[in-house]
Amino acid sequence: MRLIEVKHPLVDHKLTTLRRQETPSAVFRQLVDELVTLLAYEATREISVETVDIVTPVQATQGRQLTEPRPIVVPILRAGLGMLEGLMRLLPTAEVGFLGMKRDEQTLEIDTYANRLPEDLSGRQCFVVDPMLATGHTLVDATNFLLEKGASDVTCVCLLAAPEGLKTLEESIGDRANVTVVVAAVDERLNEASYIVPGLGDAGDRLYGIVD
Ligand code: URA
Repeated sequence: MRLIEVKHPLVDHKLTTLRRQETPSAVFRQLVDELVTLLAYEATREISVETVDIVTPVQATQGRQLTEPRPIVVPILRAGLGMLEGLMRLLPTAEVGFLGMKRDEQTLEIDTYANRLPEDLSGRQCFVVDPMLATGHTLVDATNFLLEKGASDVTCVCLLAAPEGLKTLEESIGDRANVTVVVAAVDERLNEASYIVPGLGDAGDRLYGIVD
């Protein structure tokens, strides 16, 4: 597993505002969108391209374009939805699949309640978006699910990660597959409720309000 922590003053600035408890939902959503676009630039560095012949108004030349099959973007519902547009802005031809996963706050077990993905992901590059890599269990399940369907590689784009979650993901995936995690920051730790510290709170609630 490869970890990329994106170092950029604009990432730091936006993340700081995102973390503030007084930042309202509308600003929070806008900042998540902007941050994802910055992270997506790094996350797509290894995206598959091919050389093609083209003709400009001046002369024939060669360029590079994304290969088929198209990449697939997988937001983890619900908080991952807040990151979808930011990634699709850079990858407008990508397909979108959905995984609904919810953490039971008592047992911390992951329940997969929705799955809208092609059956066969052979050779597909997958970009999973989920803002908070906390215990890592959601991303372990999501990544294994995509690899079992034949995905060639999986890039997880997250805003924040906890060291504990990164360790869990690393131990589960190891070197058996091409998995990359791209984050704006790795925080200190998880607290007793498995929230990231200092973190930004519940990303889903801050994006969309509280739903029980
Ligand atoms: N999910 C969140 O939304 N926030 C955390 O800190 C951990 C998991």
